[in-house]
Amino acid sequence: MENTRKSTASAAVSAGQDPEKTNVEFEDAFIAYMDNSTEGSELQPAQQQKNLTTSAKALDRWFKERQKSQGAPRLLEVPNEVLVSNGGPLQITGNITLVHEDGRVQYANHLSLCRCGHSRSKPVCDDQHVDMEFLNSGKIFEVSEIAASSRPSKVTFSCIKDGPITFRGRITLHNQFGQECVKMRGSLCRCGQSASKPFCDGSHSRVGFKTG
Ligand code: FES
Repeated sequence: MENTRKSTASAAVSAGQDPEKTNVEFEDAFIAYMDNSTEGSELQPAQQQKNLTTSAKALDRWFKERQKSQGAPRLLEVPNEVLVSNGGPLQITGNITLVHEDGRVQYANHLSLCRCGHSRSKPVCDDQHVDMEFLNSGKIFEVSEIAASSRPSKVTFSCIKDGPITFRGRITLHNQFGQECVKMRGSLCRCGQSASKPFCDGSHSRVGFKTG
C-alpha cells in the first residue's frame, strides 16, 4: 500500500504538473484510497481482499476522471508494475495501453485485471473472486528473463478471445512473498486454471474458457 502511494505520487509530480494543484489532487485521491485501507484492521481475509479491490477501483475512477479532462495520460516516470494479489486480481500500475477483444484501445495508469475467470466485466475485476473463493496465493511460477530497470516505459496488454491477456513491454511482477519477475513479453492467465500462474499454460482450451 505504502509503495503504491509513493510511486503514484512521484509519478504525478514527475508528469510536470503544477506541484501545488497536483499535491491537493493526490491528497484527495489518497484520502479516498486510504479510507478504504485495511492495514492493521481486524477484518477477515475475504473482507480485507474485498476492501482492497474497492480501493483499487476508487483509484481507477480517479484516473478515468483525469483522462476525461486531460486526454490520454502522459508518460509517467515509473516502471510498470504488476502486483499478483493473494486470491485477487492483477493490480497494474504504469503506462498502460489495454487493447480489448473488439479492438477498443484504453489508456490507464492503474488497472485491476481479473485472473479468476469469473468477472462479469472482463477483462476488469469486479470482485467475483471473493464470491467464487478464488484460492491462489499469488506465487509466481517463472523467473525473470531480463534485468529490472527503474526507467519509465510503456506496456501494451491485449485481450485474446477465450484466452489469456498478452503483454509487450517491460513489466515487473511481484507478490506478497517478495518474489519479483521481470518480463518483456508473455501471456497472463485469466481463466484461473493455469498451473503456472500468473502466466498462461494453455489450460483455457482444456477447460473451455469463454470471455464473452
Ligand atoms: S488463460 Fe488461463 S491458462 Fe490460458
